[in-house]
Amino acid sequence: MYKKSYPTNFPEGFLWGGATAANQVEGGWNVDGKGITTAEVVQKAKKRINITSADDVDQQSLKTALADKSEEHYPKRRGVDFYHHYKEDIALFAEMGFKIYRFSIAWSRIFPNGDETEPNENGLKFYDGVLDELAKYDIEPLITLSHYEMPIGLTEKQNGWASRDTITDFNRYTKVIFNRYKGRVKYWLTFNEINTSTWGFHETGAIDHDLSQNEQLKIRYQSVHNQFVASAIATKQVHKIDPNAQIGCMLARMQTYPKTSKPEDVLAAEQSDDLNLFFVDVQARGEYPEYMNRYFAEHNIKIDFGTDDADIIKKHPVDFISFSYYMTTVTAADSSNANTGNMALGDKNPYLKESDWGWQIDPIGLRISLNEMWNRYRKPLFVVENGLGAVDKLENNGKVHDGYRIDYLSKHIEAMREAVSDGVNLMGYTMWAPIDLISFSTSEMSKRYGLIYIDQNDAGNGSLNRIKKDSFFWYKQVIASNGRNLETLN
Ligand code: BG6
Repeated sequence: MYKKSYPTNFPEGFLWGGATAANQVEGGWNVDGKGITTAEVVQKAKKRINITSADDVDQQSLKTALADKSEEHYPKRRGVDFYHHYKEDIALFAEMGFKIYRFSIAWSRIFPNGDETEPNENGLKFYDGVLDELAKYDIEPLITLSHYEMPIGLTEKQNGWASRDTITDFNRYTKVIFNRYKGRVKYWLTFNEINTSTWGFHETGAIDHDLSQNEQLKIRYQSVHNQFVASAIATKQVHKIDPNAQIGCMLARMQTYPKTSKPEDVLAAEQSDDLNLFFVDVQARGEYPEYMNRYFAEHNIKIDFGTDDADIIKKHPVDFISFSYYMTTVTAADSSNANTGNMALGDKNPYLKESDWGWQIDPIGLRISLNEMWNRYRKPLFVVENGLGAVDKLENNGKVHDGYRIDYLSKHIEAMREAVSDGVNLMGYTMWAPIDLISFSTSEMSKRYGLIYIDQNDAGNGSLNRIKKDSFFWYKQVIASNGRNLETLN
């Protein structure tokens, strides 16, 4: 008789925490030898519904941005000044009981132009300080090596990831980082949301505005391939330099549902889902899946494979799979969203509510995704981003009542617990984001995700004071109970 018990809660040692990215929090964009990144030439979006304004960069706007030495039009240059507040911020994370903190290293702090032979010691020193501070509170670091932060010099010189030379530049940087931090960092991620490379500039660092759609797609998939190779080389490096370290890939997971039960719609949704999971297929299984042969042929895409690429990708798959989860999408065979790999928000799902930015909220979709990915890959999973961007109000008494965020987070945590009970191997959860920060897609400050409010407005004015929201106290209780107690506090 088959009779086995199943877990009813998160495992002991579950890694609770939060996640940020250098370009959205640090500021200090031009100090201590740092170079400019792709994120710092992006202006604030004109409309909130933009899926991302971070791709609205062409040759002309790049020139203008590089000539402009102010922070005024480029909010990611100022972030929320984590560069000077990190001790205070990490102390607050510790107060919530964080076990892990995910952050990125700004590549251009270490190699300002991207192609230097020697690293910038001042940049390394800053991250030494961050790691010291985390160690003080026993918080594990989880480091993203590239979170939309390519040194702009590489865009100017070789059109970013469109060039294979960027592989060498990236792996020179990763080698420096692994050697510097070996023994101090156990968990690493290579590329944040690698699949968004098919969206454009923010991830590829390649400017392709004046090209046809098909030419753009070619450049973008070539950039993806070059990142696959760079990621596999980084995996090889870190395993050699620090055998105790684990390294993961990172996907923007967007589960696609069929609009109806019509087989054509179901097929369209499956194909769209494959295009989303393709990135993990390569990085976790070590080879390109067959379905992409047909996709590439039908889209007239030919990937330039170096002689050893297939071998490197095969020999160095990731140790674990991480992903961000914010929403699900819907598609139909006759939808403009069909077969796009979810490059847009997709058709509306009438059963779901959406955030003020039109992102459809779907906790059950997280359980579905976790199960699907666990069954497909059988590698440990890590939810490294999930959260609600909302307009928060700072009351006169200094409180921020963000019950809507607590509701959002608790439903997603509940869904993760269900998935764990289903048998999914889940390592941890780093919600996005412990502190308010500059939005990736629209560069707004007023799209707030934090458990901690930061007094700064869209124009960059404010005291930068850190203020605990209701969700701060709630998350503290969640962590203390290892996710059992999701009750709202009174
Ligand atoms: C993910 C990114 O896409 O979503 C983060 O990895 C980003 O950088 C987060 O901030 C939320 O998106 P946004 O556009 O609301 O900031």
